[in-house]
Amino acid sequence: MMNIAVLVSGGGTNLQALIDAQNRGEIKNGKITCVVSSNPDAYALERAENNNIATKIVNRKDYDDRAAYTADVRDALLDAKADLVVYAGFMTILDEQIVEAFPNKMMNVHPALIPSFCGKGFYGLHVHDAVLASGVKLTGATVHFVTEDCDAGPIIIQKAIDVKNDDTSQTLQKRVMEECEWKILPKAVSLFCEGRIKIIGNKTEII
Ligand code: GAR
Repeated sequence: MMNIAVLVSGGGTNLQALIDAQNRGEIKNGKITCVVSSNPDAYALERAENNNIATKIVNRKDYDDRAAYTADVRDALLDAKADLVVYAGFMTILDEQIVEAFPNKMMNVHPALIPSFCGKGFYGLHVHDAVLASGVKLTGATVHFVTEDCDAGPIIIQKAIDVKNDDTSQTLQKRVMEECEWKILPKAVSLFCEGRIKIIGNKTEII
């Protein structure tokens, strides 16, 4: 059974989707054992506590530099004996120390179809604002492995939906979450825990 640690910063609806999937028996060979938050006020912490999952706060505001912050997040994950680290609405960029500690063992959910609308500055509602401003007709979500380059690691699963004429960034965010993120994230986590994701260069194959 793999230990799954989840990194959060805010509302934690993706964490909730993972917990719900776990309760339905849909996370094969894995268990969420720890939630680490960059923000002491994140509602995600309450979701974890309501489900008897251990929590740890490593407050980004307590640190001046990225290296010291990354080292403490890494140590929290090592203490939790994490086999898989899931970035679920984690709004802080960590440095290379984290990838060295957990190579090919971290995944992130991003609210767009990578390689569009991703990288530095593309997070939360900003992503959906940019999608609407561009006029694309499709958007969606991506789960990918975390590497040193922001939002650029091997893609595991993507799901697309239509952009509607009357969408706002809020309505789009809601549909992308409900129809894409909350479905593909638990699926990718389960595939990882079952040992079914093969990484070949910058691509993956589900076996
Ligand atoms: C989600 O839409 C997630 O994909 C996004 O922030 C939201 C967090 O919601 N993450 C990013 O933008 C990271 N680049 P949640 O806290 O309710 O899961």
